Parts: sequence; C-alpha cells; structure tokens
Amino acid sequence: MGTRKNQPVVVRRLQLAPRLPHKGAIGSVTATRLLLRAGASAAWLSSHNKPSYHLHPADTTSTSSMSHPTSPADAGAHPLLDFLYARRSASALGPPGPSDEQLKLILSAAGTVPDHGQLRPFRFVVVSDGGRDVFGQALAAAALEHKPQLTPQALDAVRAKAQRSPTLIVLIVSPKPGKIEAWEQKAAAACSGFAIVLAAHALGVGAVWKNVPFTRGQALTKLLGLGAEEEMLGWIHLGTSLKDPAAARPPLDWSSVTTLLDADGVRPFQP
Ligand SMILES: Cc1cc2nc3c(=O)[nH]c(=O)nc-3n(C[C@H](O)[C@H](O)[C@H](O)COP(=O)(O)O)c2cc1C
Repeated sequence: MGTRKNQPVVVRRLQLAPRLPHKGAIGSVTATRLLLRAGASAAWLSSHNKPSYHLHPADTTSTSSMSHPTSPADAGAHPLLDFLYARRSASALGPPGPSDEQLKLILSAAGTVPDHGQLRPFRFVVVSDGGRDVFGQALAAAALEHKPQLTPQALDAVRAKAQRSPTLIVLIVSPKPGKIEAWEQKAAAACSGFAIVLAAHALGVGAVWKNVPFTRGQALTKLLGLGAEEEMLGWIHLGTSLKDPAAARPPLDWSSVTTLLDADGVRPFQP
C-alpha cells in the first residue's frame, strides 16, 4: 500500500472478527510460527526494512524448553528474545507502506494478546492515502477544541502528524459490557498496540506508536465513530524505515524494578 497522490480517501474500519484468518484461536505457539513465517518472508524486503534479528526455524521450535537468559547479552540462543530486545521504533518512515497481505498479518497479531474474557476490546482504523489528510484535519480540529489559542503554524504541525508514514493504524479501545474491569480491557487494547508494533518489525515493516494529548474532539469522534465508552489510544505509523534502526537500548536493570517476596518477606531479587 504505497502513497499515491490524488487518490480517493481511504479510511478503512477493521474490527477483528472473533475468529482470525487462521484456523482457531492464535495461541503462543501459532504466534511464534507467525513470527517465523514473517521472519522468513523478510528476506525480500528493502535493506532498511530488514529486521535487525535473525530467525531460523531450527532455532525456535523448542523455545519453551530453553532456560531463561539473565540479560540480553546471553540471549544469543533465543532468537525471539533477540528480536524483542533489539526492536526499535522507526524514527523516519516513507513509502511503500505495508502490503495488504502484511497488514493482515500485522492486525492478526492483535488477537494474540493477553485478554481477560477474550473480549477483543479493541478495534482499528487503517488510514492510508488521502485518509491521512482527513485524519490530520480531525486531529487539528481536536487540538483546536483542546486549546483554542493554537496558532495556524501549530495546527499545521498537528495536521502534519498524519503524514509521517504511508499507513497508520489508529488504535481504539472498545470496552465490552460485563464483569471485566474497564482498565483490564484498556490494558488488553494497549497490548494489541505492542503486538502490532512487534508484528510489523517481524515483517521488516518500520513502525512507531504515536499519540496526542487531545484524543477526543467532535471531528475525531465522528471520523472514527467513537462510541461513548471508546477512546483512541493513538496510532501506529507503518512504512519503510528511512534510517538505520537506532542502537539497542541499554538492557533494563531489572534489579532496580524487581523485588522478591518469599517466606522471609520482601527483599531484593538476586538470583
Ligand atoms: C501509547 C503510546 C503513545 C506514544 N506516543 C508517542 C508520541 O506521541 N511521540 C513519541 O515520540 N513517542 C511516542 N511513544 C513512544 C514511541 O512509540 C517509542 O516507543 C519511543 O520513541 C521509544 O522508541 P523505542 O520503541 O525504539 O524504544 C508512544 C508510545 C506509546 C506506548
């Protein structure tokens, strides 16, 4: 799905069906296979879009029996963890955007997230081509509602946010009524955003999740068809990375954010 000028507005609304294109629900093993297929298909992608990890089917069939690495440094035998640790958001994106086939794989990944009650409390709006202009206008209108004193230049900058990639996936939390708490549903929807980012990277498609502080607004609500309980959780830019991926982040010092609770009480976690 590349960017072509003077094309009709394309804003496609997608709601993941309860059953995904794959047979049955996608479990972790199937998700792993999805990543493997994606990795295998990445070979023909452009050099900037090559995933910065190496997946070989032989390496990944028995991930469940592998011992846990203690830091990214010893993750060499864990290709999926290598992939996770090395993934970086794209800082600049251009055409082409993902193909329809890639979009289907990317969106299907949303169905793999932890989701209490299997409610699928999310939906997506794929924005491409002229849809980006419409989305940018709605963002600017929302910004103006939020801050009426915004200058025309500031509004232009808001409009331009929609133009930073050929394709965007707007992420919407769509809570379902019932006993599952709203925050849990929002958490599941947020996980779907990460799944989308991960799947994009697995396919060699550049991705970065963005948002604005003004996610409501009449024009935006109307454009996205937001129900009273729904909320936009930002959007994920997709396209071809124009720059080499940033260096891997420094490994998380997990000891600074982790404690152990055992029979002796809470103490530093020092395995
Ligand atoms: C919900 C959400 C909204 C975000 N919005 C923005 C944003 O508007 N601008 C931005 O620079 N980064 C935003 N980020 C962070 C980027 O997606 C990205 O994680 C960050 O630039 C760090 O890059 P990395 O993924 O390579 O670590 C957002 C992340 C999340 C989860």
